Amino acid sequence: MSNLIIAGGSRLSGIIEVPGAKNAVLPVLAATLLNNGTSILENCPELDDVLTMLEILSALGCKTKKKGSRIEVDASNLTSSCIPEVLAKRMRSSIIILGAVLARCGEVLVSYPGGCEIGMRPIDMHLRALEQMGAEVDGLKHGMLKVSAAKLQGCEVLLDYPSVGATENIMLAACFAEGETLIRNAAKEPEIEDLQNYLNQMGVKVTGAGTGVIRIQGIREIKAEPIHTIIPDRIVAGTYLAAVAATGGSLVVTGVEYDHIGSILYCLRRTGCKIKNYSGGVVTLESDGRLNALDLIRTSPYPGFPTDMQPQIVSLLTKSAGTSVVVETVFENRFRYTEQLQKLGADISIQGRTAIIRGVDKLKGASVEARDLRGGAALIIAGLVAEGETNISGVGYIDRGYEKVENVLSKVGAKIRRVED
Ligand code: UD1
Repeated sequence: MSNLIIAGGSRLSGIIEVPGAKNAVLPVLAATLLNNGTSILENCPELDDVLTMLEILSALGCKTKKKGSRIEVDASNLTSSCIPEVLAKRMRSSIIILGAVLARCGEVLVSYPGGCEIGMRPIDMHLRALEQMGAEVDGLKHGMLKVSAAKLQGCEVLLDYPSVGATENIMLAACFAEGETLIRNAAKEPEIEDLQNYLNQMGVKVTGAGTGVIRIQGIREIKAEPIHTIIPDRIVAGTYLAAVAATGGSLVVTGVEYDHIGSILYCLRRTGCKIKNYSGGVVTLESDGRLNALDLIRTSPYPGFPTDMQPQIVSLLTKSAGTSVVVETVFENRFRYTEQLQKLGADISIQGRTAIIRGVDKLKGASVEARDLRGGAALIIAGLVAEGETNISGVGYIDRGYEKVENVLSKVGAKIRRVED
């Protein structure tokens, strides 16, 4: 267990190169299971969740190799269709492997994922769609779930909500289904497009990712040697931009997709930051640290403002001039981290799914606890602007989404260090 200690008050400036996206690499790693051959993935982030996914792939019989940000997966000899409970429990998003294992092996045994710090997170839409495709779903004893299908049948699926995970699971299951699968009200996130690109490289015919209607033409077998580069992490880029917006200073982020962070940049501009976009994936931000309040931000599915940036934006608004309102529409319980921000002197009140943030002159360092990934990132941003020392525990959550966060921030001038307990 480690803590992050931050001495707040430094302006930040410098360059940060954005790594590959966690939420893109996880479904693509799941998709490597479909390939009766070897897949090579470039630009993979070095995160605990990626290592957990590799352990799951190994447990299913894949041979995996990792060298820096390059990962090789040979899935030609699968030996199991059971996802070990200890690994599934470690990473909630292991559920996105369901569709791929089912498609490749005809059955899958996995523990039922529970709720988490940000909400109940049911998987009813995933399971309903698989049932529609002909799968049988059995809830077993001890919270285990068995899904089986001798053959999946392509069909038309209408999602009640554009769920990212459900869209990915259906896309993966549909690869070996008979005929065409059509997903209506599909999620439009860039990570879905990345998955489509990877599947198409392997010879599957997927169209429509990035729109609300995705079509997947099932095929009999995949035996390919794709080399795929994972897209940049738009939430990591947004987090570091928000940090420098809050502390004041100037930041150059490289390796980003400008369009993917459009809604985040829109909000940062409204707070008063100067942002420029250059060719080659470069975005610059300048901030004097004196931020305007934002009258209303509502999180929503892409291309709306991402729920995964909600805590970071609330954190930077705690020191803005005036009152801001942020509405969380995606997850029902995603404001718990605000209790920790209050320990640093933030003035935030929560009414249901709405946070009302009254800007204060200064935050003051304190001991706080991260209880989820993005809530932890919000605490780092607050610690960077607070006077005095902030001690953040629960850093394991932050490590799930940010590679060596203290090194990245130190290089741009933050006084931040990690201490082991
Ligand atoms: C993914 C991201 C996560 C992000 C979220 C929303 C990954 C690994 N994780 O999570 O970082 O915050 O998208 O952008 O990519 N829901 C149901 N039933 C279902 C499925 C979802 O009710 O069967 C609800 C969820 O509880 C939530 C909403 O739908 O309220 C959106 O969830 P979803 O888009 O599925 O998020 P994830 O794929 O879990």
